[in-house]
Amino acid sequence: MTKYIGVLTAGGDSPGLNAAIRGVGKAARVYHGMQVIGFRDGFRGLAENRTERLDGEVLSGILTIGGTILGTSRDKPHKMVMGGKERDMTGAMVENYKSNHLDALVCLGGGGTQKNALRLADHGLNVITLPKTIDNDVGLTDVTFGFDTALGIATEAIDRLHSTAHSHHRIIVVEIMGHRAGWLALGAGIAGGADVILIPEIPYDVEIVADAILTRVRGGKQFSIVAVAEGALPQSQAKEVKAADAQRRGAKTKEDKKRAKATLAAIAEQHGQHTVGLARELEKLTGLEARVTILGHLQRGGIPSAADRLLATRLGTACADLIKEGTFGVMVAARGEGTEAVPLQEVAGSRKLVPLDHPWIASAKRVGTSFGD
Ligand code: F6P
Repeated sequence: MTKYIGVLTAGGDSPGLNAAIRGVGKAARVYHGMQVIGFRDGFRGLAENRTERLDGEVLSGILTIGGTILGTSRDKPHKMVMGGKERDMTGAMVENYKSNHLDALVCLGGGGTQKNALRLADHGLNVITLPKTIDNDVGLTDVTFGFDTALGIATEAIDRLHSTAHSHHRIIVVEIMGHRAGWLALGAGIAGGADVILIPEIPYDVEIVADAILTRVRGGKQFSIVAVAEGALPQSQAKEVKAADAQRRGAKTKEDKKRAKATLAAIAEQHGQHTVGLARELEKLTGLEARVTILGHLQRGGIPSAADRLLATRLGTACADLIKEGTFGVMVAARGEGTEAVPLQEVAGSRKLVPLDHPWIASAKRVGTSFGD
């Protein structure tokens, strides 16, 4: 009997999403004889039943295209703003899954998507996910697609910033995405030869950063590149976050939880200007001129790298095979040269941070990179 599958892309877009849609879609249609539809704009499209047939024509020619042909959103099934009000749309999603006669739903996304997919699996849907994000912070997979492309973009940016920093004898502070994980800043910082790398996993002391820069000046290097992850924190603020987070987790009353959440929100708000503030502090402490470059969404745009196309195709085609054999409630993880189906219960909420004993950190320290610690 022909199987029917639905595909959606959720969360921030990422290079490689179309390659993954193509991998799932072509393997499902051509190799396994299934019918494939897409839902527009993430979980919102599933709630509103906005569908599109993913036939041979639609799936053709999308391997190299950035973004997602299906559109995406950060909407959550259980907290979706509909007509100005936040509503739980899980029931509507279950209904639309049934009315489209689906045998499986494929959700392509990062950490948030894994949690949302698990919610739908808990409501009886045959859900299977793929790990996508430039942040590389999804647990239980070697890597996520999108990361390699963003790493290349951020590395090239650091390469280009070197010549202008050198010419003007300046500090260039370059902010790199990654949410609360330091993979992207660490990888691009090492590959681009940044002199200082600041990541959330290693809270920094600005005086130590300034010392590292002044040591370079004494050694005849009048410029420095500081690669700072958007989630990097000075030691004092990291302590505040840790305390507020502990309060939130240990809160006995709703009021206590609300207070802890408000403190965390206030810290996050203040953190918005973090990179600019860091550059100003470094100017004061070193006497050098500093400039800021925020790479932002440039890191998510454009064509996927060859490595991301390969990874997305590998995961997407393995996903179609798992659907064929009836394996659901799993994420298709990258494991070595192959893939592994890992239970969504284990993936959901398991953010992968950079371990402090990671070989990348050890190598960076050996070539003299400062982490400000
Ligand atoms: O998760 C990908 C990511 O680009 C993060 O690195 C960043 O913190 C966030 O998304 C930005 O989100 P938005 O596109 O909603 O501004």
